[in-house]
Amino acid sequence: MPEPPLWEQWAATSAALPQGERLQKVLSARGWGSRRVCEDLIAAGRVTVNGDVAVLGRRVDPEVDKVEVDGVPLGVKAGLVYYLLNKPAGVVTTASDPQGRRTVVQLVPEEPRVYPVGRLDVATEGLLLLTNDGDLANRIAHPSHGVEKEYLAEVEGNVSGGALRRLRDGVELEDGMTAPAKVSQPNPGVLRLTIHEGRNRQVRRMCEAVGHPVQRLIRVRIGPLRDAQLQPGEWRELDQRELKALIEAVSGAPRQIR
Ligand code: URA
Repeated sequence: MPEPPLWEQWAATSAALPQGERLQKVLSARGWGSRRVCEDLIAAGRVTVNGDVAVLGRRVDPEVDKVEVDGVPLGVKAGLVYYLLNKPAGVVTTASDPQGRRTVVQLVPEEPRVYPVGRLDVATEGLLLLTNDGDLANRIAHPSHGVEKEYLAEVEGNVSGGALRRLRDGVELEDGMTAPAKVSQPNPGVLRLTIHEGRNRQVRRMCEAVGHPVQRLIRVRIGPLRDAQLQPGEWRELDQRELKALIEAVSGAPRQIR
């Protein structure tokens, strides 16, 4: 029998060659532990490739395949931390304060060093994210990703239907019109406002513009993150489901800023 042409021999050999890198090697290089530990993760069924549970021996192309551990994308680098803090009133949202006031970074572990994502006024209470993941922080803080922030505001007086409508449609501030907001009044003098812009003192200025200055302001949600159990001054790490939801919330194409 004649030999097959050389190019066919080459094609058969190259098809038999394993493609991609071993999954445990890829996981280990991304900081998920030693190769042995990563093999155990795979054997325990905690690793998926393109949505399917991976088996030992699986090879992947990390540039193409979507690898997740416990639902967390491989892209999340080791050493990154994500804290959700319930900021009390009177604490400043900076890394250091020239006036010596207590800062939000003093309320969370010193190492690794983390930074607040966006800011809450000194008098504002509620949820604040702190992280050393600069990339995610930039995406969350950037208004083009439109991450919703929800607030409860105690305001002066009972807010009329007309004022609620103005808040919903957008109010004229000195730095321009605000984008449409979700606004309701669950109790007289208490507003629930959801906005996706991050302008300075925005909620306070919006309420003042419609004649109802804010007396107390609490942020109760950042995108998918809520926690009604976290007490003022307490913090906790995000769990993997929350982190995944947060990454998803900022992964889409940036939306147009009005
Ligand atoms: N809007 C405000 O007015 N203050 C905050 O701290 C956050 C949003």
